[in-house]
Amino acid sequence: MSKKATLEIDGNKYEFPIIEGTEKELGIDIKTLRSATGGITTIDPGYKNTGSCESGITFLDGEKGILRYRGYSIEELAEKADFLEVAYLLIFGELPTAEQLDKFDKDIKEESHVDEDMKRILDGFPKSAHPMGVLSSLTSALIAFNPGSVDVDSEEAMYNAIVKIMAKFPVLAAWTMRKRKSLPLDYGDNALGYVENLHKMMFSRPNKTYEANKIVNDALDKLLILHADHEQNCSTSTVRIVGSSHAGLFASLSAGISALWGPLHGGANQAVIEMLEAIKEDGGDTAKYIAKAKDKEDSFRLMGFGHRVYKNFDPRAKIIKASAEEVLGDLGIEDPVLDIAKGLAKVALEDEYFVKRKLYPNVDFYSGIIYRALGIPTEMFTVMFALGRLPGWIAQWREMRLRKEPIGRPRQIYIGETYRPFKSVSER
Ligand code: ACO
Repeated sequence: MSKKATLEIDGNKYEFPIIEGTEKELGIDIKTLRSATGGITTIDPGYKNTGSCESGITFLDGEKGILRYRGYSIEELAEKADFLEVAYLLIFGELPTAEQLDKFDKDIKEESHVDEDMKRILDGFPKSAHPMGVLSSLTSALIAFNPGSVDVDSEEAMYNAIVKIMAKFPVLAAWTMRKRKSLPLDYGDNALGYVENLHKMMFSRPNKTYEANKIVNDALDKLLILHADHEQNCSTSTVRIVGSSHAGLFASLSAGISALWGPLHGGANQAVIEMLEAIKEDGGDTAKYIAKAKDKEDSFRLMGFGHRVYKNFDPRAKIIKASAEEVLGDLGIEDPVLDIAKGLAKVALEDEYFVKRKLYPNVDFYSGIIYRALGIPTEMFTVMFALGRLPGWIAQWREMRLRKEPIGRPRQIYIGETYRPFKSVSER
């Protein structure tokens, strides 16, 4: 028998169905709450208790530390799949056959040029501009060069739009970095794989033959996979809500990039390294910063610690920690900032404050460390996150449009002034 929830307000009882997901998660379906109760709504700032949609893309269990894309565990995908396969899986729901993967790869390569006029837009930005702002603007500017909304009822139109952005986004991301470094823009090389090509577009020198490094590319591939989706987080919810107004895919993605920029979300990986550098400059006293993080009078937080949903461990952090150790060892990197990171993690993991609140290093703590070891500039870290999250955002946007979800429009409880008559300037 299907479960129901009963709500009692002032002696009146209202019944609501309880829906059950495939992983036995339960949700009270309150779609009829306002109409049944005569306008009573719910209040849940930060949406800690609110499900915004039913989704078949990513399952995570924060208590058990489970993360699965379309049913496949993140551990298996990180070990056995490559980023393009995972992107296909997330977007279209199944792992691609060899033929489908080959076509996806070829179609992306076919679209991997960006209109030359886009360079003039990039030119207009100062070199000091944050790459996330530039990337969000360039993604938005792409609309002007690819006008017309996507016909979401046409599989082909949807596929073409997806392939286009999968192809052009890495070019734009790499260009934001090259602009900062005064390097000539690079269109990459279609003979390379998706991730290798991204690395080439970022790091190639005009007077030097590009040499791929397997350790670096494998680490990048894994990082992109680990970041590829994470259900209804801040940036993904942004993409879905912007898309729910029937704004196009590129406009929705551009908004998602802005949401990801913040230090409480994707910006955390940059904030981690900045924090570690500040600790180093201040003499490397980790105990002092642990004490600051615990002090309620001090706004300082240990960046890269804690997570809204993972309250035991972040499965991505587990994978990436092992990968970080491997990459640092293989590349023979010694860096005092990385030593501070290790020290900080050790102390925090044993400290009662962090243990009690279940604050563990999250994926951003270790991803920042690997990016630094790979020579990626700190301000590009969040761009790397965006590159990984792209297929997740696309998958969520596609799902939202295919399910014909209504426009996102939350309610509020008004707490401002009640009616008061207008006073002219002389009366105030
Ligand atoms: N350092 C010190 N104390 C912390 C930290 C931290 N990093 N994170 C949480 N706390 C404390 C809070 O002060 C609070 O303590 P209290 O109960 O004594 O008041 C308790 O832990 C719970 O914290 P909340 O803020 O309620 O937890 P919430 O789930 O809302 O926030 C968040 C999660 C935003 C990730 C938070 O842990 C944080 O700010 N971490 C640092 C930023 C960061 O690493 N963000 C990356 C997130 S992962 C990602 O986006 C991929």
